[in-house]
Amino acid sequence: MPTAKISALGCYVPPGVLTNHDLSRMVETNDEWIVERTGIRERHIADEKVATSDMAVMAAKQLLSARGIEAAELDAIIVCTVTPDMLFPSTACLVQDQLGASRAWGFDLVAACSGFLYGLTVAAHLVSAGTHRNVLVIGADTMSRILDYTDRSTCILFGDGAGAFLIEPSEDSSAGFLGHLNEIDGSGAPFLQMPAGGSRMPASEDTVAQRLHYVKQEGQQVFKFAVRKMYELCDSLLQQKGFSASDVKLLIPHQANRRIIMATAERLGLPEEKVVINLDKYGNTTAATIPLATRDALEDGRLKKGDLVLFAAVGAGYTAGVSLWRWAY
Ligand code: UT7
Repeated sequence: MPTAKISALGCYVPPGVLTNHDLSRMVETNDEWIVERTGIRERHIADEKVATSDMAVMAAKQLLSARGIEAAELDAIIVCTVTPDMLFPSTACLVQDQLGASRAWGFDLVAACSGFLYGLTVAAHLVSAGTHRNVLVIGADTMSRILDYTDRSTCILFGDGAGAFLIEPSEDSSAGFLGHLNEIDGSGAPFLQMPAGGSRMPASEDTVAQRLHYVKQEGQQVFKFAVRKMYELCDSLLQQKGFSASDVKLLIPHQANRRIIMATAERLGLPEEKVVINLDKYGNTTAATIPLATRDALEDGRLKKGDLVLFAAVGAGYTAGVSLWRWAY
């Protein structure tokens, strides 16, 4: 019986747009290659004065207004991000202050592209435990701040954005959180990381000169892991909960690469109309992709009360997660 539900959603993407054509004037690439290899056509980029907490606050305000509650009614704020405003204080603290969420505690959760699903798992359990009523989960990343715009293999992939879900107790026994499977596999760490800026390799003239404060990725390694893991976790969770893929109304996956998403869908036997893909408009916004894709599915009328929704993500770490919900509104 579900005890926690998603009761509201809010999103924000900055107005600036960077198209594949724009990128082809910055690095040796072209629209055809990017579309064919990734499915991405454009991504939104924040103005230089805008940081992750600013986008997170915009998404949160939209959510609070949609739900008709005050920030002071929030019990906890989880900000999932790999691009915090600064290492400390946490972005959750900055968001709490900006919102005036006077009763909330909170923290940042670092799990890259799986961050939002880990956040949902934590929130669902805080609410199910009966100790929290309103938990705000925000996925927000300003990836443009950690991209090397001379590296064509990474700079074409990512964009900026934020999205948030509110998790509340579910009074309706047929709607809400049904289960999750989360995993980490740290042997994948070398294949996707930002090497410098932490205690292992603090910022220095050398780290700047060597461009080590940027995303470094071995794309094919991550690709192979993502295709295998996303399918395995989806299949295991559905089996564990007594569902088959045909019961799923929508698969809402992390938006990294259209080919990863479609390979997962094909192995599950899900037709394309049951899969949400919006990376053509936003690229990979890391922790924000799942709320942004959910928002688009709701606005397009593809997601309705009572639908069985499967969220899935794989990312740096490696991290991986799937989460199954009966949509509640
Ligand atoms: O969300 C976080 C998790 N990350 C992911 O899920 C990303 C997973 N990986 C991928 O999506 C893909 O591996 C990429 C999209 C990053 C790359 O696609 P790929 O099909 O694996 O390409 P590749 O890295 O094997 O590169 C193929 C060729 C290379 O040229 P050569 O060596 O064959 O001559 C690259 O240098 O494409 C070249 N290339 C490009 N060409 C034009 C790499 N990037 C570009 C580019 N434009 N932007």
